[in-house]
Amino acid sequence: TRRVAILISGGGSNMVALVQSMVGDHPARAVLVLSNNPQATGLAKAAQMGVPTAAVDHRPFGKDRAAFEAEVQAELEKAQADILCLAGFMRILTPGFIAKWEGRILNIHPSLLPKYKGLHTHARAIEAGDAEHGCSVHEVTAELDDGPILGQARVPVLPGDTPETLAARVLPMEHQLYPEVLRRFAVGDRKPVLLP
Ligand code: GAR
Repeated sequence: TRRVAILISGGGSNMVALVQSMVGDHPARAVLVLSNNPQATGLAKAAQMGVPTAAVDHRPFGKDRAAFEAEVQAELEKAQADILCLAGFMRILTPGFIAKWEGRILNIHPSLLPKYKGLHTHARAIEAGDAEHGCSVHEVTAELDDGPILGQARVPVLPGDTPETLAARVLPMEHQLYPEVLRRFAVGDRKPVLLP
């Protein structure tokens, strides 16, 4: 059984979808939910589902990302995690950390990559007049929001959409896509999942 740690910064709705998917004959189980934000409401949700949690506040470390990451790494090792899922984790990880997890670290990003890396993806898709938008799960590499794409889900952009209405259409697709990609990834299947 693969041991999955999930990194969050906020509400953790993708984390909840991932945890709830890892039941029955699933090839993985959730061993840790870790947040850089001790106030993240996702931590309480994880605890309620019976998943161990940890908080490593990034703020006391200031600009010293490596020292922050050493604490995160210590928690991951304690939990004996062997797959790492970033799920609304809003800290940039250094190449040194990512190298330790190469081939074992996934992220979900709210755009059809390679479009709209970075922040404010929904606003940028609307601004560009795109007819389609969505989300992507990819392997994390040292380059931000880059790395092999393991799955994508598409939604239409509708007249009158705001970043909020569009986000509300994308998020449920994230909740379908990420568990489906993880289920396959856990058994070594990297063939892209395309939804719907
Ligand atoms: C999700 O939409 C996720 O794709 C996005 O943050 C949201 C987290 O929601 N991630 C990023 O923007 C990463 N740069 P959640 O906490 O409810 O899963």
